[in-house]
Amino acid sequence: MNSIITEIKKLKKEKNAVILAHCYQNAEIDEVADYVGDSLYLSQMAAKTNADIIVFAGVYFMAQTAKILNPDKKVLLPRLESGCLMADMINLQQLREFKAKNPGIPTVCYINSTAEVKTECDICCTSSNALKIVKSLNAPRVNFLPDTYLGKWVESQLEGTEVVTYPGFCPTHLRIKPDDIIEAKKKYPKAKVLAHPECHQEVVKLADFTGSTTGIMKFAAESSEKQFIIATEKGVVDRLKRDYPEKDFILIKDNIICPNMKWNTLEDIYNSLKHMQYEINVDKEIAQKALKCINRMLEVSR
Ligand code: 13P
Ligand code: SF4
Repeated sequence: MNSIITEIKKLKKEKNAVILAHCYQNAEIDEVADYVGDSLYLSQMAAKTNADIIVFAGVYFMAQTAKILNPDKKVLLPRLESGCLMADMINLQQLREFKAKNPGIPTVCYINSTAEVKTECDICCTSSNALKIVKSLNAPRVNFLPDTYLGKWVESQLEGTEVVTYPGFCPTHLRIKPDDIIEAKKKYPKAKVLAHPECHQEVVKLADFTGSTTGIMKFAAESSEKQFIIATEKGVVDRLKRDYPEKDFILIKDNIICPNMKWNTLEDIYNSLKHMQYEINVDKEIAQKALKCINRMLEVSR
C-alpha cells in the first residue's frame, strides 16, 4: 500500500496533477488526495486549481463539472462506471416537459445532473448551498430538479417560497426509513442524529441536524456531544471514525453505500495518472451554456 501511495505522489508531481476526492470515496483515497470534501468544495477547488491535470475521485457529473470549469485542462475519471443514479433520472426532454408544466419561473438544478440538463437551467446548487441559492432568486415559486427531497427540504426552510420538484431521488439515501431513526434513537438515546437532505422528508424531520457531507462532518467535529447517528453514505462515517476516535459514530444502517462512489481503488488512481485514463470531454457548445449555470452558483456561494 505504501509503495502505491509513493508512486501516485511521484506521478502527481511529474505530471502537475491534482486529485479531488468526494467524502463518499473509499477512505484510503484520502492518502493521495489534495482536497477531500463535498460537491461544493470540490467544484470550488476545481475552479481554482493551477494543475494541468485533474483526477476526480468521485462520480461522472463531478468530473464533467470540473471539465466545464477547466476546458483547457485534462480531467480524468479513474473508473468510467462511476455514474450517479439520481443525475441519470432526468434528460433534456424530461427537463423541457417539467419546465413546460410550470413556465415562467426560475429553474434550479442540483449539481447532480448532466451537462445537457444544466444548459437549460438558470442556476445550479449543491446540498450545502441549496437554501442560499433558492433564496438568492427572490422568487415566490421555483422549479427544482432532479432531487425532490432536497427541493422539499429547501421549501421547509423557507417562508413564502414554493419549490416545485421533479420526482428524482437518491436510491442510497432513500434506503434510510423513519423507523430506522426511531429505532436508533431508542438504542442510543443520547446520540444526535445528523442527516443528509437527500434523505426522505420524514427522516429529515427526525434529525437534530441536516446538512451536506462536509456540513455533517463539521457539525460532528465542532459539537461537544460524544455520540452521533449518521444518516448518509458510509464514507462519511469512515472518515469521522478515523479523524475523531474519541467520539462514537453509528452508521444508521450497514447498507448505506453508494456503489458508484466505491469503484475507485488506489490502483485505479495510479492507472488513471499513469495512462491518462479516462479523459472526460464535453461538447464545446454544451459546456459554454452549462458553465453559465455553474458559475452563477459559484458567484452566489463566494
Ligand atoms: P454533497 O453535496 O454533500 O457532496 O452530496 C453529494 C451527493 O451526491 C450526495 O449523495
Ligand atoms: Fe448519486 Fe446518491 Fe450516489 Fe450521491 S449517493 S452520487 S446522489 S447515487
